[in-house]
Amino acid sequence: MKKLIVGNWKMNGSLQANADLVSAVLQGLPSPLSCGVGVAVPAVYLAQVQALVQGTGVALAAQDVSQHEKGAYTGETSASMLQDVGVRYVLVGHSERRQYHGETDAMVAAKAQAALAKGVTPIVCVGETLDEREAGQTEQVVKRQLAAVIHHVGHCTSELVVAYEPVWAIGTGKTATPEQAQAVHAVLRAQLAAATEHAARMPLLYGGSMNAANAAQLLSQADIDGGLVGGASLKAADFLQIIAAAN
Ligand code: G3P
Repeated sequence: MKKLIVGNWKMNGSLQANADLVSAVLQGLPSPLSCGVGVAVPAVYLAQVQALVQGTGVALAAQDVSQHEKGAYTGETSASMLQDVGVRYVLVGHSERRQYHGETDAMVAAKAQAALAKGVTPIVCVGETLDEREAGQTEQVVKRQLAAVIHHVGHCTSELVVAYEPVWAIGTGKTATPEQAQAVHAVLRAQLAAATEHAARMPLLYGGSMNAANAAQLLSQADIDGGLVGGASLKAADFLQIIAAAN
């Protein structure tokens, strides 16, 4: 399957920095581009970046979406608003949202459903903390997180992208080994296969300190179909090397 690399800028950027970064990425994209590329940008910059990437091989992604459709939800952004400004993917259930904003499995599932209903593809993030890994609960945790979404979206499961992001590997420089990541991806693939006949063509991304040096090895694993890249997506040269490894 075609690999997919999505940069998650998190809460970084400015009008100028975004323009510089996107222009450097666009200039350095491999030709032909045979993998998917996306950038998940802060909501306030979605329209800016949409104009910058329109007509290029780079897809626009958002970092969060409201589970509600419209109305009195101050500060929220709806799936139709994302769709309106050209968003193709939206992250749901990133561990930083689960951790700092109290997002539960049920909320994540509702967000995935809200996105799907407007034709925006959810990138469902799952992953265990260090304590959970050390307690031998990795499989149980990621399966619980994914099950909540599968249960909620039903026959639309095949439209999801899933990202495995071990919390202990995020922003720490500690990457899961390719074998550790592959083992969890295989579990997730099997879980998806029990829910949909299309599991084999669903992109499963790895995220957590993916960088120019480790991307190729991670991406060579049987069930790793791409990357969700944080820190390294903020530097064009690093992001481009990861894209090159996926291309
Ligand atoms: O969503 C991407 C992510 O959480 C990984 O971040 O900085 O470890 O690549 P980073």
